[in-house]
Amino acid sequence: MSMNERLEKIRQEALERIAQSGGLDKLEEVRVAYLGKKGELTEVLKGMRDVAPEDRPKVGQLVNEARAIIEKRLDEARSELARAARELKIASETIDVTLPATKTPAGYPHPNTLALDEVERVFVGMGYEVVEGPEVELDYYNFEALNIPANHPAKDEQDTFYINKDIVLRTQTSPVQVRIMEKQKPPIRVIAPGRVYRADEVDATHSPCFHQIEGLVIDKGITMADLKGTLAQFAREMFGADTKVKFRPHHFPFTEPSAEMDVSCFKCGGKGCRFCKGEGWIEILGCGMVHPKVLRMSGIDPDVYSGFAFGIGLERIALLKYEIDDMRLLYENDIRFLRQF
Ligand code: DAH
Repeated sequence: MSMNERLEKIRQEALERIAQSGGLDKLEEVRVAYLGKKGELTEVLKGMRDVAPEDRPKVGQLVNEARAIIEKRLDEARSELARAARELKIASETIDVTLPATKTPAGYPHPNTLALDEVERVFVGMGYEVVEGPEVELDYYNFEALNIPANHPAKDEQDTFYINKDIVLRTQTSPVQVRIMEKQKPPIRVIAPGRVYRADEVDATHSPCFHQIEGLVIDKGITMADLKGTLAQFAREMFGADTKVKFRPHHFPFTEPSAEMDVSCFKCGGKGCRFCKGEGWIEILGCGMVHPKVLRMSGIDPDVYSGFAFGIGLERIALLKYEIDDMRLLYENDIRFLRQF
């Protein structure tokens, strides 16, 4: 075989293998097999000493031409592979913008949230600040500082979950009153919404965890008239302009005098119906004038300042406002229930 024929054969073979390669690793194999240190073309150059000296430049030139064309094809094949890979990637990542979107379902405000928003709106409108206190509370703040000493029967009524003998899950939001009075100088006008806990069985009107909204006003010259006026206005804004209020004497250890406030039934206007259990009135909160002992324990001089406080059951307001007859519905998080509000 002449040198010419041999080179022609090598070139043909190399180009064929490139054409059939179909992968970068195969292309590399071809490169090594023909252009590498022990590749076929290199072998040809090594055989130069058998070529007649006058033919050597000619052969050299043919070898270089073969090398150039093989290199060029290798390059082209590489870019072709890269292009194909890129197209595949683009095709696989194509987004069909005409497909219907997957919906992220929006939640619905919980009746408790709606009721709390409403209560906050009314009191913030009267210049109150919304504050918070800890749910895991010292026994001192939950009971002692509220004039409920160790063996007081009120402590039994609010049986709760003890973390240890000094720390409890708060049974009421009233301890926030003390925390605020300890660190803030009068005038004080706050509401303190939050979770409270009691060792109660679950039924239509009870839950071991529920919510209260505490209210506290302290200033010079605050009287029972301020309490009545404020809470009557609150009732009208919450339940309608025609709502009447009634204060019944009650007892809370941290207020003196103490009362419970009823509102006229906003369903029947006071005539008596299923909603108010024929009473015409619905109880919605406890309240009273802050006990001088509580003021003193919190570092406020009862000879200079006086104030009133109240505690609203949030669930009670939510159940009334949205006419829900079982408290358990509030905690089940059934979307079919929640989406109604
Ligand atoms: N903490 C009371 C309870 O859980 C509710 C209450 C009554 C709060 C009278 C008050 C208040 O601030 O003045 O039953």
